[in-house]
Amino acid sequence: MGRKIWFLTGNIGKVEEAREHLTPLGYEVSQLIVPKDAIIEPQSDSITDVAMAKIEQAKSHLPSGDNSKDMLMIEDAGLFIDSLSGFPGVYSSYVHQTIGCEGIIKLLSHLTTEDSVRLASLRSAEFRAVTVLWDDGEVYVGNGKCPGYISTSIVEGNGFGYDPIFVPYDLDSAGDSLSAGEYGEVSTHGSPFGGVEITTKKKFSHRSRALNDLFNQLPSA
Ligand code: IMP
Repeated sequence: MGRKIWFLTGNIGKVEEAREHLTPLGYEVSQLIVPKDAIIEPQSDSITDVAMAKIEQAKSHLPSGDNSKDMLMIEDAGLFIDSLSGFPGVYSSYVHQTIGCEGIIKLLSHLTTEDSVRLASLRSAEFRAVTVLWDDGEVYVGNGKCPGYISTSIVEGNGFGYDPIFVPYDLDSAGDSLSAGEYGEVSTHGSPFGGVEITTKKKFSHRSRALNDLFNQLPSA
């Protein structure tokens, strides 16, 4: 078995996604769960700063001690809506727990048009993820984005969080995101992530992209 990575998250879906990426590269991913309130999330408008602050605090919770050969990983994500100057951004979790997807739809209700291309641009947004890895004093940072737009109605089904209202822009044949209204090889055909299979979501995911970015920087296991 390769080197162990402790992934600090309460979300088992994130752990499974990380395992899919990292097991073939020779890493063993385990979920690290710490007592509630053990990690204080700082007030910051940067998800990178939030993730960095969390990793500093989490080091002392490594089961094998912070001078072991194990690695520690954290991910922070958020939804950034252009017409709301990036809101909810770093407050995505709180906003989801309070006003939820319905509240976001109401906040954007004035942005409407029959023209689907214009709609996708008026209501543009993106998911961003930052993944930080601590390895024996070295810190690596990976970034991933998923551009798209906020739908006019909620589609429940798969996924979590803002998936019921987020429609990703199409991908070209290389898997890169296109712009509003451009048609590509991979598409949800106007459906939010809530209405597509998880395997489809992964092709677009900010999370997968952040992991790719991060592990491309590491020497192989
Ligand atoms: P966290 O990094 O899990 O704290 O993400 C912050 C918030 O952004 C979460 O509460 C989710 O609601 C939302 N979020 C992050 N990633 C996704 C995603 O892939 N789909 C839908 N919502 C997401």
